[in-house]
This record gives sequence, C-alpha cells and structure tokens, in this order.
Amino acid sequence: MTRSDETLLEVRDLQIEFSTEEGRVAVLCGLSYALPKGRVLAVVGESGSGKTVHALSILHLLPPTAYIGGGEIRYKGKNLATLGEKELRQIRGNKISMIFQDPAASLNPVLTVGEQLTEALLAHRNISKEQALQKAVLLLEKVGIAEAEKRLDEYPFQFSGGMCQRVMIAMALALEPDVLIADEPTTALDVTVQAQILRLMKELQKESGMSAVFITHNLAVAAEVADEVLVLYAGKCLEQASAEQLFKNPLHPYTQGLLNSLAPLHRKADTLPVIAGYPPVPRREIIGCPFAPRCPFAFEKCRQHCPPLFEENGRKTRCWLREDRK
Ligand SMILES: Nc1ncnc2c1ncn2[C@@H]1O[C@H](COP(=O)(O)OP(=O)(O)OP(=O)(O)O)[C@@H](O)[C@H]1O
Ligand SMILES: [Mg+2]
Repeated sequence: MTRSDETLLEVRDLQIEFSTEEGRVAVLCGLSYALPKGRVLAVVGESGSGKTVHALSILHLLPPTAYIGGGEIRYKGKNLATLGEKELRQIRGNKISMIFQDPAASLNPVLTVGEQLTEALLAHRNISKEQALQKAVLLLEKVGIAEAEKRLDEYPFQFSGGMCQRVMIAMALALEPDVLIADEPTTALDVTVQAQILRLMKELQKESGMSAVFITHNLAVAAEVADEVLVLYAGKCLEQASAEQLFKNPLHPYTQGLLNSLAPLHRKADTLPVIAGYPPVPRREIIGCPFAPRCPFAFEKCRQHCPPLFEENGRKTRCWLREDRK
C-alpha cells in the first residue's frame, strides 16, 4: 500500500482492555494500520489474539466490560473511538458494515429474510417498501441465491449455513458500505462452501471497490483474499506486509512457522497449524517478545525486551532479528 492511496480507515495505536476480577487486562496492545480505498487487509491470528475484539471496537460493539484504553480509529478522518452513539449509528451498517462468523446466530430467526434485508434499506434510505423489496431481490441474486423473489418470504432456518452467510453478505452490502469488516465469515462453513463464499466476497469487493478488513485464523484464507496481511499475536502485530511479500518471504519466525505447516485451502485447515507451545494468557504484562517462549530463534534480549516494529521495504516486523537489517 502506498502513501498516495486514499486511506479510508486508519487504526492508530489502538489499546483494548477488559476489566476483570483480577484487574485490567490488555488484550490489544497498540495496533496500527491504514486501510486504503478498494484494498483488503487480512488480520490473521490464533484464537485469543484479539482479532474479534479489534473488529468490535471499530463499531462500538465491544461487550460492556471491555473498553478502548487508548489510540484512535479514524474513518475518513473522524475518530470513531470518541464518536457519540448517534453519529456512529449513521456509520454502522451504512458506511462500515460487519459480517460475523456464525450467520445463523446473526440473522433474526423470527423475521423473514426479506424483512431483514429491507429493514436496513428502509432505515437508511428514503425509499418505499416496494423499492426496498425490489432491491432485496437484486441483492439476493447478486450473492447467488436462486429464485430470490420466492425466498424473500422464507425464514433463516429454511436456508443452509452457506446460504445464510450469502444472506448476511447481501445484508452487509445492502447499503453499499465503504468498508466491510468480515470476522471469520467462512469458518463455520464446510470447505467447498467456504471456497465459494470467499470467491463471491472477493468478486463483490472488487466490483464495488469497497475496502475490507478480513479476519481469519487461516493464512490460506488470507492468501485468497488479501492485498495486505497483518499477523496478530497476543494482542500485538508481529508482522505486516503485502500479501505478496508475506507469502513469498515471511520475516517473522511466527509467520514462517505458520506458513511451513500450512495446509492448502482445499484440505481442511481449520485451526492454525502446529507450532509447539501456546500463546501467552493475557493476564499479566508480558515481558519481552510475546512469541519468545515458542520461538526457535529466541535469544536473551527477546526474553527481556519486546522488540518494536522494524520497518524495511514498506513492511513491518516485530523481531530483534530484523534490528540491523534496515
Ligand atoms: N468478556 C471478556 N472478558 C475478559 N476477557 C475477554 C472477554 N472476551 C474476550 N476476552 C479476551 O480477549 C482476548 C481477545 O479475544 P478475541 O475474541 O478478540 O480473540 P480472537 O482473536 O477473535 O479469537 P478467536 O479466533 O477465538 O475468535 C482473549 O484473550 C480473550 O480471552
Ligand atoms: Mg474471534
């Protein structure tokens, strides 16, 4: 991503904390990225690395015990982190929309698919019910649902998991957002359906020119969709690079480990592949590099001090091995 690209969404030094019985726990520690118009950023990380919490914070959807402890979330220059609920409502779903992992749980079981699709259109656009229904049919056709008109009157339980996710995509696209945030949108689906949905999302994203933050624990998924990849580990970005750089030449030992044991997408690669050990539990402050306990190259300094993000050739790597390579 070059500087001349128009940045739509910029996250600067974002900190997210939970208040727990044991006190404050930081789960995201200084995340930064810039998402230009029309580009896809994949945020990749193991379970608990902070992917969802980061996504929820953007649209003020964090659970009540979590809060933004610092940093900014800028959308077209406005800091969403400090924006009032009323203003944010104009952005949520309209300019920035979100798709979640479990489509069945995200759809309302007692409303028909048509009612749900038209609800957002009627709330944000000055159109008649008839026009909203027409648009809903077009949207369902766009996401590959046959006999769309008939299916508008059906309820979510009458749709398969893959079809529900198509409906969710249609809903997310209904208001032609600038930014789509997709949190593991294909994880709950079986492998063939997963590939279809990824292809569909990529097509629609290209066609509409919207930007997307695509959250996944699967590097193979990131390879399918992303222009840029950010590897998150224990709430910290360990590596950020263009997809091309990252997959050709991963610099962080963690990314290298992930790539080495990566199964291709058509085989089931549901969980992140095995690197010995576990990520740290975010209970107390981590001294040193969070990956050091699992890193085959760790030396004394890694255990004492957390490295900063070293920049080289437009990419960033949080690793002391990159210190003198600039
Ligand atoms: N309600 C909560 N109270 C305290 N800690 C929480 C709460 N929800 C999440 N966390 C912690 O925040 C951290 C980040 O969680 P998050 O859900 O963002 O991870 P994730 O990367 O999305 O993982 P997954 O791949 O499992 O979805 C985790 O360590 C988790 O334990
Ligand atoms: Mg998650």
